Amino acid sequence: MLTRLPNGYPRPLAAPRFNPGAPDARRLEVTLTDDVLVVHGGAPLQGQIRVRGAKNLVSKAMVAALLGESPSHLYDVPRIRDVEVVRGLLELHGVKVSDGADDGEIVMDPTNVESASTDEINVHAGSSRIPILLCGPLLHRLGHAFIPDLGGCHIGPRPIDFHIQALREFGAVVEKTPEGMHLSAPTGLRGAKLELPYPSVGATEQVLLTAVRAEGVTELRNAAIEPEIMDLICVLQKMGAIITVHTDRVIEVHGVPRLHGYKHRPIPDRIEAASWAAAALATKGEIEVLGARQADMMTFLNVFRSIGGECEITDERVARPGVTAAEGGIKFWHPGHELQAVALETDVHPGFMTDWQQPLVVALTQARGLSIMHETVYEQRLGYTDALNQMGATIQVYRDCLGGTPCRFGRRNFMHSAVIAGPSKLHAADLVIPDLRAGFAHLIAALAAEGTSRVYGVDLINRGYEDFEGKLAALGAHVERLG
Ligand code: EPZ
Repeated sequence: MLTRLPNGYPRPLAAPRFNPGAPDARRLEVTLTDDVLVVHGGAPLQGQIRVRGAKNLVSKAMVAALLGESPSHLYDVPRIRDVEVVRGLLELHGVKVSDGADDGEIVMDPTNVESASTDEINVHAGSSRIPILLCGPLLHRLGHAFIPDLGGCHIGPRPIDFHIQALREFGAVVEKTPEGMHLSAPTGLRGAKLELPYPSVGATEQVLLTAVRAEGVTELRNAAIEPEIMDLICVLQKMGAIITVHTDRVIEVHGVPRLHGYKHRPIPDRIEAASWAAAALATKGEIEVLGARQADMMTFLNVFRSIGGECEITDERVARPGVTAAEGGIKFWHPGHELQAVALETDVHPGFMTDWQQPLVVALTQARGLSIMHETVYEQRLGYTDALNQMGATIQVYRDCLGGTPCRFGRRNFMHSAVIAGPSKLHAADLVIPDLRAGFAHLIAALAAEGTSRVYGVDLINRGYEDFEGKLAALGAHVERLG
């Protein structure tokens, strides 16, 4: 049985158990009876769906609200589990969170921020990686913080050494205990000169959320510059922060003593948009993703076209005399002829996102020739390809760097490059969702495959894809819950 968080969302699943010795779908040993989607595959997905604010910005903007001294309004917030986890953590710390007047608006009032007990915070242990970002804001507001064990997807060891190093340089005292991490700032936080060993998204956000109210100037070198980071900078600037983005991944922050609330509409979720695009290609369908925005997806769109996918971009239209408002979006469809293989590597922005990799690999199983996917951001993000092979795909993973650029994982024994031979006829299987993006990839594979698949642990997808079952129904997918 799945246990549930106080907000009613299921706890993340325990890692599924496999019997790798068994030859086929019978490798599955666990049965999670309350969390299974039956997928009758083989039909094209067709229709229109909408994406809302990006999961990987919304959750951080919610943390930023803690730094203000007046309420913040965030619009277009998706109903996903990660948002509920952050909401729960904010509420535990005295932030009043309520739904606003607009659909998808939340209002966060941090006027009475207070300490929470470690037991209460620990209810959220293992549910998300966002809690680590509360360090700076809580240190500024309360002088101390407790961070539970982190969760998130199992796609590599996911250390937090860059975060801890940066916090120490700001003057925080960090003590790791078996129950979590205790932090204090006995003499306050001061700006620092920092350089990340790798342009980590989370560590850059940690520095931003800490530096904005630290005394003096912070200079961060080798920072991440993903669109979600730029949007977080927009949020912080609205709150009164002074942040300059220089060339060559250098970000400079002039600390200010006080920040106020913000009103912000987040960038759309470019990961979800690309996931549906890959689903259109893999199922030979046509999906219009309302809300998707070209500027955030240029790299993906180039790859989509190189494979042979077709797309049409519609800009948002703002109402003015004689012109009615219309939502922008991107329509993605299969060209009706064979797809072509491509060689790709994932990278930090402006490269091909690691979160676009898994859904796209499913589409690449339908392309003629040998495609290459070199994963350079996470060392263990190709494990999900085993299940695709069970379904009839031909994917071989290698330790070598098969992309043009040798990466950090090349000599460290990680299976981080994949060669995908296609096209392959996919057939139905029983699948266990391993993590968020790979889970969605499995779902796409089941939708593309002939026959009836059962997808176990499907609730994990609610962590990052709003109402995915409703959207599948809108696209004509034949799916049903087991039982
Ligand atoms: C964010 O994770 C996203 N998560 C990930 O999306 C995304 O894949 C990733 O950025 C890269 O774009 C959220 O925004 C919540 P990183 P994050 O720090 O911040 C290493 C999804 O499905 N590293 O940029 O945790 C790390 O191991 C998720 O939405 C250290 O070594 O990623 C990895 O190899 C999955 N030490 C690399 O840096 C550290 O202290 C990049 O990680 C921190 C990171």
